[in-house]
Amino acid sequence: MMSKKMLDALNEQIALELSSAYLYLAMGAQLDDENLPGFAHWMKVQFQEETEHGMKLFDYVADRGGRVTLEAIPKPQTDFGSPADIFKAVLEHERKVTASIHRLYELALAEKDYATQAHLQWFITEQVEEEKNAEGILRQIQAMEGKAHLMLMLDRHLGARKAD
Ligand SMILES: [Fe+2]
Ligand SMILES: [Fe+2]
Repeated sequence: MMSKKMLDALNEQIALELSSAYLYLAMGAQLDDENLPGFAHWMKVQFQEETEHGMKLFDYVADRGGRVTLEAIPKPQTDFGSPADIFKAVLEHERKVTASIHRLYELALAEKDYATQAHLQWFITEQVEEEKNAEGILRQIQAMEGKAHLMLMLDRHLGARKAD
């Protein structure tokens, strides 16, 4: 059984992962509406991944004999601006999630909760990928600003993203 402090922090992280899923789904809705189906597809795959992150923590809490408490998920915006603005927001959001995972890890160290430390290792590694992906796509968009045909090529490329 983990400490109450650790349990509360894990429950908050579950809510953050599920609110990330909801945020990316809202971005996907805007991108579908703007006829960028590849970008929208990328967001829907991201929605699934974030849901899986939430569930990984959900199952972990249950495995440790803790009770999951679901928190409220904030209503996302409906307009996030241009594709460059959207990916700036994704990168900013992922940096916020990384900081939150790092705080969780620090708590697990302070609590001498070795099992939670081991479980969080996966998330620490995953956040490196998440930030790299968001930054990579943002840079591609910025490099092709104003070149519509290149944006359509990037849209096709993002449309080929497979769920891992
Ligand atoms: Fe995540
Ligand atoms: Fe993420």
